[in-house]
Amino acid sequence: MLAVKFHIIRFAGVPSTMDVCRTMALQGAPEGTTIIADEQSTGRGHDGHKWYSPIGTAVYLSVLLRPSGLTSRDAHAQLTLLGALAICDVVENIAGSCDCHHRAQIKWPNDVMINGLKLAGSLAECSWSGAQIDYAILGIGLNVSTDFSHAPDSLNGRATSLTNAFNIPLGVPYVTDCLLAAVEARYAELYSSDNNFAHDYASLLETVGKKVVISQKGTTVTGVATGVTSTGRLVVATPKSVVEVSYGELSDASPPKL
Ligand code: BTN
Repeated sequence: MLAVKFHIIRFAGVPSTMDVCRTMALQGAPEGTTIIADEQSTGRGHDGHKWYSPIGTAVYLSVLLRPSGLTSRDAHAQLTLLGALAICDVVENIAGSCDCHHRAQIKWPNDVMINGLKLAGSLAECSWSGAQIDYAILGIGLNVSTDFSHAPDSLNGRATSLTNAFNIPLGVPYVTDCLLAAVEARYAELYSSDNNFAHDYASLLETVGKKVVISQKGTTVTGVATGVTSTGRLVVATPKSVVEVSYGELSDASPPKL
């Protein structure tokens, strides 16, 4: 089992916790260095998207990892997946504690959704020395009681928070603690040969069975998602063949026409 010891550094506001964490990684900070901010001025998500980061109503954190045993290029996908699973674990714990029935689902690869609305996301950024990971930064944004009335139009009707979903008051410090505990537990699983990542990820993935359009650099993959590999690649049946997709932006996921 691999344990991560968190060294938490808190900021009132930063451009992005990812950048602060990367600077510290380059200065030799140890694994577990965790940057937490009350707000971000240029929070970022996948594919160059901005991450809406207003003050005091959400968790914005980045954890520095040095998973020396991970050599495969799939390590990046595994860490993204780890983040999404940890968020789902938090939702499950909260649902259990208030006897609510909401369940988080994952929209491939890393969007955590409740009731079809985006609740949270995870972002992994890796630095490589040859085939070896030098360091990785796992960033997570989780909406706790976010007010979306001043959010960009692109989020209109598409995002939610834990408070909205569960209709109970929840504090950012409490959710942060739950999230760090979940990251710690999932990270400990990472090297274990009988880890539940693939099984848990597949069972939480809402994308399987749907028609998908995945935009990649300059191309798109269109077909029906039929499954997911143990490393988080989406298996897509296109009109010509079955392909495994490791990255890209899912721009459409509707039920297949029968
Ligand atoms: C996504 O769903 O696209 C991933 C979103 C990740 C957002 C978090 S918030 C904390 C950390 N700092 C950032 O700038 N991004 C990540």
